[in-house]
Amino acid sequence: MSVEKLIPRLGVNIDHVATLRQARGENYPSIVEAAQIALNQGAEQITIHLREDRRHIQDTDVEAVLLVTKKFGKPLNLEMGCNDEIIDIAIATNPDWICLVPENRQERTTEGGLNIIDQEQFEHVQKTCKKLKENIKNVRISLFVEADSATLEKAATLPIDAVEIHTGDFAKAHLNGESTKTHLETYELAHNIVKRARLGFHAGHGLTDESVKPLLEQGLFEEYNIGHWIICQAVFEGLGNVIKKLADQMKG
Ligand code: PXP
Repeated sequence: MSVEKLIPRLGVNIDHVATLRQARGENYPSIVEAAQIALNQGAEQITIHLREDRRHIQDTDVEAVLLVTKKFGKPLNLEMGCNDEIIDIAIATNPDWICLVPENRQERTTEGGLNIIDQEQFEHVQKTCKKLKENIKNVRISLFVEADSATLEKAATLPIDAVEIHTGDFAKAHLNGESTKTHLETYELAHNIVKRARLGFHAGHGLTDESVKPLLEQGLFEEYNIGHWIICQAVFEGLGNVIKKLADQMKG
């Protein structure tokens, strides 16, 4: 009997295109163009994080990117904290997926999964999930969490569709040439719990083309959301071309 191989989805996080735009306050690089390129080149989903401090993605970007994803017939995955103002924006825009993340204004990027072991935070997340499900038709929700059993058992009691496992520590270990064996074993156990609960098993944070390899080999995750590395790598794959074109133009 042949075992069907899982073909995972790539969600491309384009937040850092907006980071570059916001750094100069111009209207380029265009987030819409970035979404179009990603979807034209094989991304299965666009992910954006509307942060409370609006450091990269702006409110109007959400509508604009949603128009692109709709045109391509692909999902928009909106990452957000459980914040009233952002919840209202999500309800007004109707994204296909919402990934709930912890948010802290001082952090450089999302630093870990939601702490739903804490009862107060659990109830806050629960209330947010219910509100989103009641107000956005057919919305699917994923929770950004660590791969620990107690968290996943608790996540499974919420009205959600998937968990996105925080892969930041795994990715850092991989980057530093340290062993990732324990992380991979943890993902195996996490996958058992998540599949028993019939939820989707997604991954995200800190991943590169190299660190994603052992995860692809393991074959457990159905979806990967990758952003920072893609934008960084795009600089070097594009820099030479752009400079050559400009230099040629100057030579007439
Ligand atoms: N998934 C989640 C929940 C995130 O918060 C982020 C960062 O915004 C990503 C995926 C993408 O992470 P990275 O930009 O490190 O690839």
